[in-house]
Amino acid sequence: MLPLTLVCLLQSIIGAFAQQASRQLVLNQVVRLNGALLPNPPTFTIPSSPNISVSVALCSAGISTPRFIFSNDTSITQPSLNDVGQPNVFEVPLGSDGIGNWTGHAPDGGFLTVSGAGQIPFEVGVSDQEPLHATLDDLPFLGDTTSNQVLLFSPPFSRPEPNSPAYPNYTLPSANLSFPVGPSSPPNYTLYFTPTSSSSLLSLPRTGCALRAQNGPNDFNEGPAESDGLWLRDEGGWRWQWLVGGLSPSTNYTAFAILDGTKVTKPINFVTKSGSFECPIVHSLPYCPSTAYAVPIAAPPSPAIAHDASTLSENITNPLFEILTNFTTSLLTFPCGRDAYSQLVSCNDCQTAYRKWLCSVVFPRCSETSSDTSGGSVASPSPALVVQRSSSSSRSPSLPAFSSDYMALLPCLETCTAVDRACPVFMGFKCPVPKFTANKTYGVGFIDDGSEGIQGGGKTGAAQDEWGNVWCNAG
Ligand SMILES: *[C@@H]1O[C@H](CO)[C@@H](O)[C@H](O)[C@H]1NC(C)=O
Ligand SMILES: *[C@@H]1O[C@H](CO)[C@@H](O)[C@H](O)[C@H]1NC(C)=O
Ligand SMILES: *[C@@H]1O[C@H](CO)[C@@H](O)[C@H](O)[C@H]1NC(C)=O
Ligand SMILES: *[C@@H]1O[C@H](CO)[C@@H](O)[C@H](O)[C@H]1NC(C)=O
Ligand SMILES: *[C@@H]1O[C@H](CO)[C@@H](O)[C@H](O)[C@H]1NC(C)=O
Ligand SMILES: *[C@@H]1O[C@H](CO)[C@@H](O)[C@H](O)[C@H]1NC(C)=O
Ligand SMILES: *[C@@H]1O[C@H](CO)[C@@H](O)[C@H](O)[C@H]1NC(C)=O
Ligand SMILES: *[C@@H]1O[C@H](CO)[C@@H](O)[C@H](O)[C@H]1NC(C)=O
Ligand SMILES: *[C@@H]1O[C@H](CO)[C@@H](O)[C@H](O)[C@H]1NC(C)=O
Ligand SMILES: *[C@@H]1O[C@H](CO)[C@@H](O)[C@H](O)[C@H]1NC(C)=O
Repeated sequence: MLPLTLVCLLQSIIGAFAQQASRQLVLNQVVRLNGALLPNPPTFTIPSSPNISVSVALCSAGISTPRFIFSNDTSITQPSLNDVGQPNVFEVPLGSDGIGNWTGHAPDGGFLTVSGAGQIPFEVGVSDQEPLHATLDDLPFLGDTTSNQVLLFSPPFSRPEPNSPAYPNYTLPSANLSFPVGPSSPPNYTLYFTPTSSSSLLSLPRTGCALRAQNGPNDFNEGPAESDGLWLRDEGGWRWQWLVGGLSPSTNYTAFAILDGTKVTKPINFVTKSGSFECPIVHSLPYCPSTAYAVPIAAPPSPAIAHDASTLSENITNPLFEILTNFTTSLLTFPCGRDAYSQLVSCNDCQTAYRKWLCSVVFPRCSETSSDTSGGSVASPSPALVVQRSSSSSRSPSLPAFSSDYMALLPCLETCTAVDRACPVFMGFKCPVPKFTANKTYGVGFIDDGSEGIQGGGKTGAAQDEWGNVWCNAG
């Protein structure tokens, strides 16, 4: 029998070997590896943590994919595929998107083995909170496209404090709205998109490391530094905003937002307009925060590629300010905040809804009939488009007539009924009745079913969807 001290010594030598052989992973850090960079044996030590999440992501497509085996029993120092199913040995399940996680307890730490690593690069992350790699349910949001540009937004984050003025000093935002200060450390979103028909898109894992590594001529990778900054479209929260040029006309693209390089949203599609589309994008107007689409207006002076608050003429903005200021003055003749005209809505809601409606009327939206129907959903109803001749007067109270014919995408009727619903009756705001002439000026029946007073039940339930269909202008 060996003396006890020698046993202890041997154990610590074996322990030292085990530790030398397997690389220690650090909590809340991601490491990138491939077959050539793996330790031998290909085992990693996992730090101890009552709650732990081990996540993996494949960084490129390959014929055979590696498998990951985790043990939270520290006596199983090299768990293999054969051990899976034993107590405390688990395979980290890889989804079809190339992402997997194991979440559980590892009070004494554990070991992670890679089997069949081959040449595919991959990432491993260990976290004591949510998995570091994930597929998010959030979606990026499409503003609009031209023939070669797209305006896209990240999913929202950091909801603003609601504006809640109180009697007797019930103050509403001025017509020339100014935003609150944006979040000081916004989440790190990047944007990736490529033509939907691109062959790499079919085979690529939907992981941050795989998408961010794409750098072909039709791959677009845009970080916060390439963005147009943070924007507060609506009360849903701040978003990153990107206006990107250099796209191909009449092309269906697939876009993902990537959070912290490792968490990937579900994709959205968008389709660029045909080469003859002439309306420039108008965006980043503090007084019309959700206006982010193509408008029938002369192109901005070069080098600007789209209109924002700095390029729009006062001839356009002054009438808008005047209408909104007058509306607000009338609204404030009501003792807002002292008396209630509704259990549900306030003067502030009324002004917000009116601003959105007014912006959708002052800035009509251009679109076109889909030129590419391949892959488009057949069941999709046609959008609320009307031909607008250059010879007829402008649809907008303050825009001059456009220099060429265009297709106007009508505002959704719900943008109008929202004002009707949010404002006191004495303001006299009325929307056209769906069953008569409303469809001459509004998109009717998409969000609500079009029967008077009925909410919901429309053909699409929304102004636009994640596949790139846009049916009416929500404003
Ligand atoms: C571990 O997770 C459980 C629930 O999943 C939670 O109640 C507990 O507070 C967590 N412990 C730590 C240390 O985070
Ligand atoms: C390993 O994790 C599983 C699932 O979280 C848990 O039930 C088990 O107790 C853990 N084993 C050890 C040794 O901590
Ligand atoms: C972790 O993996 C499980 C399935 O193994 C999955 O249901 C869950 O959504 C994953 N968690 C995240 C954050 O991706
Ligand atoms: C009324 O509210 C506004 C905005 O909140 C504030 O700037 C102003 O000082 C207030 N006036 C009075 C008299 O409290
Ligand atoms: C609107 O406000 C912005 C910033 O607060 C200011 O720079 C701009 O001149 C204002 N526009 C008008 C037309 O008053
Ligand atoms: C944002 O994430 C990307 C991808 O992980 C990374 O390259 C970049 O350095 C990060 N930017 C900041 C400001 O953290
Ligand atoms: C604004 O309108 C005035 C009068 O109609 C006109 O003289 C002026 O050229 C217009 N300015 C711009 C920038 O369109
Ligand atoms: C706004 O109100 C002023 C003063 O009452 C009036 O002169 C002006 O015509 C109004 N403007 C609009 C667009 O209604
Ligand atoms: C874009 O392509 C996708 C995938 O083929 C398709 O589902 C979607 O309907 C297309 N979008 C449009 C607007 O055609
Ligand atoms: C508009 O509504 C009227 C009455 O419901 C209907 O007859 C007409 O076909 C509609 N027009 C369009 C373009 O949908």
